[in-house]
Amino acid sequence: MTAEAIPVRAAEVETSRPFFSVRDMHAYYGESYIVQGVSLDVRKGEILALLGRNGAGKTSTLRTIARTDNPEMRQGEIWLDGQAIHKMKSFEAARAGIQLVPEDRRIIQGLTVEENLTLAKVAPGNGWGLEQIYQSFPRLAERRKQDGVTLSGGEQQMLAIARALARDLKLLLLDEPYEGLAPVIVQEIERILHSIKPLGITTIIVEQNAVAALKLADRAVILDTGEVVFTGTAKEVLDNTELRHEYLAI
Ligand SMILES: Nc1ncnc2c1ncn2[C@@H]1O[C@H](COP(=O)(O)OP(=O)(O)OP(=O)(O)O)[C@@H](O)[C@H]1O
Ligand SMILES: [Mg+2]
Repeated sequence: MTAEAIPVRAAEVETSRPFFSVRDMHAYYGESYIVQGVSLDVRKGEILALLGRNGAGKTSTLRTIARTDNPEMRQGEIWLDGQAIHKMKSFEAARAGIQLVPEDRRIIQGLTVEENLTLAKVAPGNGWGLEQIYQSFPRLAERRKQDGVTLSGGEQQMLAIARALARDLKLLLLDEPYEGLAPVIVQEIERILHSIKPLGITTIIVEQNAVAALKLADRAVILDTGEVVFTGTAKEVLDNTELRHEYLAI
């Protein structure tokens, strides 16, 4: 090997190393075996769509990545930016930068929009400040003094995403962010997710609205009965009628 070949190879290795990686992950609810050997990679700043039919194991996969107690992970590895997440509890994974926005959004009742955001900031780290959040989410700025639970569904979803940004966010896990929302609100959330992409935030989005998720995503993973049945680009899924019919009903 020539001397000048070495740095080129090193650079190739560096850019191809996934930022986030799941290796052969298995998880159970009690004795119910649900996540059955899932592996996936996400590069820094990339959006991955995690798709599949009802009950395929999408939510369970996100919950296992976030290290919730249920389902319980019994095998496998999870790596984020060189950190071994599989050895962590959920609060440690959150501190390491994994933020799960669950389907029900978990807005804290009795707190204003601003209090919900300020509370998220209590954790140390490099999360977004209020001004930066209000710039990206003008609707939240207008409603900063309003009780969080009085917001519309779309505004609550924005607040849940904004709260994740207020923390030290490296990997954003979104579970059905568009569920029950009007198309115009879906578009606004899409715009926000697009705008945070260049900031290096890495996202896994689970969505029943597969077309919307694929429009946003760079790559896709399809799950079926807790196993990965497809990994590829978002375009490959959109172009593959069989795959879409079989696993996505689109
Ligand atoms: N708390 C639980 N206890 C036992 N089994 C569960 C629990 N939660 C989910 N399951 C089962 O795990 C499987 C995967 O569920 P999961 O919610 O991960 O699927 P999903 O892909 O998110 O589905 P959906 O599209 O309906 O949200 C299903 O068979 C479900 O019944
Ligand atoms: Mg689900």
